[in-house]
Amino acid sequence: MDGNGRWAKQRGLPRIEGHRRGVETVRTITFAARDLGVRQLTLYAFSAENWNRPAEEVGALMGLLEFYLKKELATFVRDKVRLRTIGRIEGLPAGVQRLLRETTEKTKDFGDYTLVLALNYGARNEVVDAARAYAAAVASGAEKLNDSSWGTFSRYLYTADMPDPDLVIRTSGETRISNFLLMQAAYAELIFTPVLWPDFSKADLAAAIAEYARRERRYGLTSEQIRPAAAAK
Ligand code: FPP
Repeated sequence: MDGNGRWAKQRGLPRIEGHRRGVETVRTITFAARDLGVRQLTLYAFSAENWNRPAEEVGALMGLLEFYLKKELATFVRDKVRLRTIGRIEGLPAGVQRLLRETTEKTKDFGDYTLVLALNYGARNEVVDAARAYAAAVASGAEKLNDSSWGTFSRYLYTADMPDPDLVIRTSGETRISNFLLMQAAYAELIFTPVLWPDFSKADLAAAIAEYARRERRYGLTSEQIRPAAAAK
């Protein structure tokens, strides 16, 4: 969700106004994605590196997150949206943690649509945390080192029982991954759009999904292997 700051700057507004508008887009896109048939949407809301921003901006972002969670809980329950999180949640302010716990608990039985918030998230931290947990499991005898595989190790990632992303969209024209789901996005399709996050609309999301649908995902195979019928024509 990149471009909040630039959106505000273009209008001569403080950066936080861009974030405030960004939260509106979070609301729109959460429901737009579901309308378009998406089963799980992950939003990179606060990275482990974002703590290094000016204290005033960090404080405002945490305030917005708290406000958003308070306001959305009833909507999630009404509209059957399961909320989950990935990241070092224990590093967030206590009030935010409490709201996250309450919301995830109250929505945990909804199975059709999941919103995942990546908060205090960094893929490298995730690998370190998973390696630590995996090592502890090996030491306790719960896992056997000789059985190590991606299948066993990936159960120690924050995303343990979540599907890998099919499509990763980055807004605002930046063409970087920035420590987002590095392992899980190994085979994801990447779409970079110049649209700033506060302006990102349902039509933009639909266009990205249409572009995704035109791509051929080969997972290391040849086109003929994937589409034998089409190749034989
Ligand atoms: C990137 O824009 C955006 C962020 C670092 C924060 C995103 C957070 C929110 C929209 C609010 C809180 C989240 C939720 C889920 C309610 P940027 O500031 O890097 O923009 P710039 O690159 O134009 O400066």
